[in-house]
Amino acid sequence: SVSESETMNAQPGQEVTLQCSNISKHETTTSWFRLVNRTKASCISVMIRSNADFCDGYKTGNFEMRSNISTVYLKIKRVDVSDSGQYFCGFYTSGRITFTEFQYLKVGGKIIAKS
Ligand SMILES: *[C@@H]1O[C@H](CO)[C@@H](O)[C@H](O)[C@H]1NC(C)=O
Ligand SMILES: *[C@@H]1O[C@H](CO)[C@@H](O)[C@H](O)[C@H]1NC(C)=O
Ligand SMILES: *[C@@H]1O[C@H](CO)[C@@H](O)[C@H](O)[C@H]1NC(C)=O
Repeated sequence: SVSESETMNAQPGQEVTLQCSNISKHETTTSWFRLVNRTKASCISVMIRSNADFCDGYKTGNFEMRSNISTVYLKIKRVDVSDSGQYFCGFYTSGRITFTEFQYLKVGGKIIAKS
């Protein structure tokens, strides 16, 4: 389950930026993933030394990945209902991968006010 603070609501066509805190103390390769249909992790993008590369299905130009020392960002220029789902980051260091918590993006439907 996901707490409300980790849920982002958007309407179709809006621009959305998701972010992960940089959990690494070293230079790392960083990846954005999303869960598709609750069971399948799908690679969105990989960033090596500030060069972002997009995985199959995400090369449409609709996605942008960037990072600074503290935060890793994923911008979706125009979200669609099909972009709804859980997103998370992976940090690779010394052959290990660490995943961040899931963030839920909900596109369309009723807007839930954040408290
Ligand atoms: C995360 O922080 C470390 C140490 O400050 C830095 O070397 C690394 O490049 C940062 N990672 C990203 C993806 O910005
Ligand atoms: C997710 O599930 C729907 C409905 O079962 C299906 O149409 C769609 O192809 C699935 N998506 C992926 C990426 O597997
Ligand atoms: C990274 O971006 C965040 C949010 O935009 C900002 O608060 C932070 O100061 C930035 N860090 C650096 C090192 O630029």
